Amino acid sequence: MSAGILGVGKFIPERVVTNFDLEKKMDTSDEWIRTRTGIQERRIADEKTNTSDMAFAAAKDAIKNAGIRATDLDMILVATVTPDQPFPSMACMLQDRLGAGHVAAMDISAACSGCIYGMITAKQFIDSGVYKHVLVVGVEKLSKITNWEDRTTAVLFGDAAAAVVLGPVSEGRGIISWELGSDGSGGKNLYQDGPFIKMNGREVFKFAVRQMGESAVHVVEKAGLKKEDIDFLIPHQANIRIMEASRERLGIPEEKMIKSIHKYGNTSSSSIPLALADAVEEGRIKEDDLIVMVGFGGGLTWGALTLRWGR
Ligand code: COA
Repeated sequence: MSAGILGVGKFIPERVVTNFDLEKKMDTSDEWIRTRTGIQERRIADEKTNTSDMAFAAAKDAIKNAGIRATDLDMILVATVTPDQPFPSMACMLQDRLGAGHVAAMDISAACSGCIYGMITAKQFIDSGVYKHVLVVGVEKLSKITNWEDRTTAVLFGDAAAAVVLGPVSEGRGIISWELGSDGSGGKNLYQDGPFIKMNGREVFKFAVRQMGESAVHVVEKAGLKKEDIDFLIPHQANIRIMEASRERLGIPEEKMIKSIHKYGNTSSSSIPLALADAVEEGRIKEDDLIVMVGFGGGLTWGALTLRWGR
């Protein structure tokens, strides 16, 4: 038995903020944002909705879609850089709110790569037979660390949560290959300074283009697969130009890349499972489809995996 995804869920805040709304608040334009990033609008959570509330909603959805109960969970992992508070962890808050058993629960700080880190951590416990069901949530309320005076970062991010339940799946399905990595020397290019996100956009861009492409190619090779075997690429939704570069490096056609950046912006750790959740909801992903997921983020961190869909 190998670890695969049993169910996926999401929560997106109701409030839509378009590029045109941002034009009214800062010196930017819809044209600049769209052509440089691919973003048209993003969701911003209201004051009352905190990270833990979004995580709870997405987790409930994923547990329902996995066809299990919260009491069936053996571990809870929450990837976030915007927790309600440094501790207790979001994972412990979720354990209580979900009514899960007194199971292992911890947060993961790997920024936008957080959900890939979470899924690969979950896989180790499932493959070894120690745990059966692991909940992995990617959640961010980035709006609370966004400097709305800084147009170079404010236009990029959005709030959202998405979750997956992992568990044992039948032979040949589930996560086939993976890669995780970090390079702390690049941490200075994307970090939180006091209350706000700070970023050297050009350096992050260069790193992302190189690393996303390389990692995607690595995991496909590790799995012994060819580019023709890939049905879908789900890259971290940070910038359409970075996403396109990784697609081109993999050498797969445009229709095989799943995109939701236009409607959510960069939602950090939730972006990959959120794009997956939409694709599953739309019926795009079928049994036995071969999916490549690849992410990068602050740290700097990166991670990629190949997965054959189905239970
Ligand atoms: N609206 C209008 N103009 C803007 C702007 C905005 N929101 N933000 C920056 N500009 C201006 C700059 O001031 C600069 O003006 P100048 O030439 O007069 O100095 C010009 O646009 C070009 O800026 P530059 O930073 O070179 O643009 P870019 O093509 O590198 O695009 C990013 C900027 C941020 C979109 C791009 O670097 C990027 O996506 N980087 C990766 C960021 C990322 O993914 N972060 C999250 C990682 S998880």
